[in-house]
Amino acid sequence: MADTAVDQLTEDQAREEFTRLTAALAHHDALYHSHDAPEISDADYDALKRRALEIESRFPELTMADSPSQVVGAAVSSQFAEVRHGVPMLSLDNAFDPGEVADFEARIRRFLKLPADAHVAFVAEPKIDGLSASLRYENGVLVRGATRGDGRTGEDVTANLRTLDDIPERLSGAGWPEVIEVRGEVYAPNDAFDAFNAAAEAAGTRTYANPRNFAAGSLRQKDPTITAKRPLRFFAYAWGEVSASFAETQWDALQALRAWGFPVNDRSRRVEDAAGLMALYDGLQADRATLGYDIDGVVYKVDRLDWQARLGFVARTPRWAIAHKFPAQQAQTVLEGIDIQVGRTGSHTPVARLHPVTVGGVVVRNATLHNADEIARLDVRIGDTVTLQRAGDVIPQILGVVDADRPGRGEPYEFPHVCICPLKTALVKETNASGVESVVRRCTGELACPFQRIEHLKHFCSRRAFDIEGLGEKQLVAFHERGWINQPADIFRLARDEAKLETLRAEDGYGETSVRNLVAGIDARRTIALDRFIYGLGVRDIGEQTSIVLARAFEAWPAFEAACLAAAEGIPSEAWVRLNEAHAVSPRVVAALAEASPPAEDPWPEAP
Ligand code: IVH
Repeated sequence: MADTAVDQLTEDQAREEFTRLTAALAHHDALYHSHDAPEISDADYDALKRRALEIESRFPELTMADSPSQVVGAAVSSQFAEVRHGVPMLSLDNAFDPGEVADFEARIRRFLKLPADAHVAFVAEPKIDGLSASLRYENGVLVRGATRGDGRTGEDVTANLRTLDDIPERLSGAGWPEVIEVRGEVYAPNDAFDAFNAAAEAAGTRTYANPRNFAAGSLRQKDPTITAKRPLRFFAYAWGEVSASFAETQWDALQALRAWGFPVNDRSRRVEDAAGLMALYDGLQADRATLGYDIDGVVYKVDRLDWQARLGFVARTPRWAIAHKFPAQQAQTVLEGIDIQVGRTGSHTPVARLHPVTVGGVVVRNATLHNADEIARLDVRIGDTVTLQRAGDVIPQILGVVDADRPGRGEPYEFPHVCICPLKTALVKETNASGVESVVRRCTGELACPFQRIEHLKHFCSRRAFDIEGLGEKQLVAFHERGWINQPADIFRLARDEAKLETLRAEDGYGETSVRNLVAGIDARRTIALDRFIYGLGVRDIGEQTSIVLARAFEAWPAFEAACLAAAEGIPSEAWVRLNEAHAVSPRVVAALAEASPPAEDPWPEAP
């Protein structure tokens, strides 16, 4: 159905696909924002989102408060103050081949009504794979620094940005406008990222999937002294609000930014015509692995700023710029085994264990195999040599088997039929309302399954939920293994359990201070915002955005709990109607809440 053009879809098909897409987007949003651990490439994510938005614009009745059109980019986290950007921070349209670049140029000529022989110059800049930031200078002094956030409102990370040596506190030279928002990319060099991860692995602390997530995680620290220790760098390439214009071309603007003290990428070039763009693209692609930082393409911008102004924007992207993306990087290696990971909702995800191989400068040991159908589709078997691909920013993917016809090849992989936990619960494939079977196999043991139980606890303590200082994943798992924490309430009991705390104080690697910090961290969360609480419960389909919508609607826990319990009784109840209509969340969400609210049952049974 995903291949059917949106204008050919029946209403039922559209509803069914839309439900599936919104659930997938919520899942990927959570992975990206809460765990800094995306599973699909930005391009694949964008394709899902584009399709959902297309369906929504043709069938506006599908729109809910938690639909893709209402949720833009990253929700601003509550730990930083909000900053409204003077001018929105937009994103770029992508081109994947020379044909799309030619279309881009043709569109510009058409829009500006230029004669065929007119000359359109561009500036080509490496597309740095980091996160964008906006720096506001008033009278040449840095007054505020913010992340992009959803494009209109970002997070105030001024103190953190001030710790970067690349970001001047005061502008040098002369000629800067009284007010200027300088924009660019915060990134981490590859060698510094590798060194950080190696040290973190040795210390048993958190590692990051790639330099971009590392940069994002480092910039969004509550404590700026931690950011100061991280090797972050900055390249300036754009601007937002300005009190006066300061250049006539993109090229001159880059020179001005450089003169005022900002690093400007030295591989940026002014190119006289579109033909020159390709040569530059090929050159950068060839040098990509030796630059020392990740780039995922080249950005082409119309050089003349008066033309940029005339060209303006379509929706959230400028007509005067495009990102020409690099193809994903590939390599071959041997599949040494297949491990199963059990997720919070019982999903069994196969993960390929690979003989370590370098792809695009990064050593790869694992790749996702998604689900049993994907293994069957690839017919990948242990011992096979496989081609894998890394799209720059995500977990690598296996594309296919190279030596399927070799003699003595192993048997097809048999996906487990029961959960890998000691309960050995049968795995099920769910079917949706239209009778379509899911590709995901799930354990139905829920909280009785030890794997799901620990994933639930991790989610409860995660950054966007209870975020308990001193109780990281490592400590949580250790306390769970000792039998101290089996359900969320045990966390709060632990802080009052003198005997256990005394044991901890006497242990190596703990001691007086850590125990005091742990107790303080737990006590600080005895009262918590309702949206974080709802999100922390880890109900399927209730992501961060939906939790915010629900918390706003119900204001306090008793009203929300009463509505969930009543909704569990079924369709005629008033609460069901209230959840459905008054609060504009999708039926999927109401069903999930109802299912998670069995009135007479203890949701956290004793651990098996
Ligand atoms: S210009 C209105 N130039 O790419 C256009 N963006 O996909 C503003 N990026 O959010 C962006 N290098 O984080 C521009 N030389 C460059 C860039 C660049 C990296 C990032 C930036 C932006 C994203 C858009």
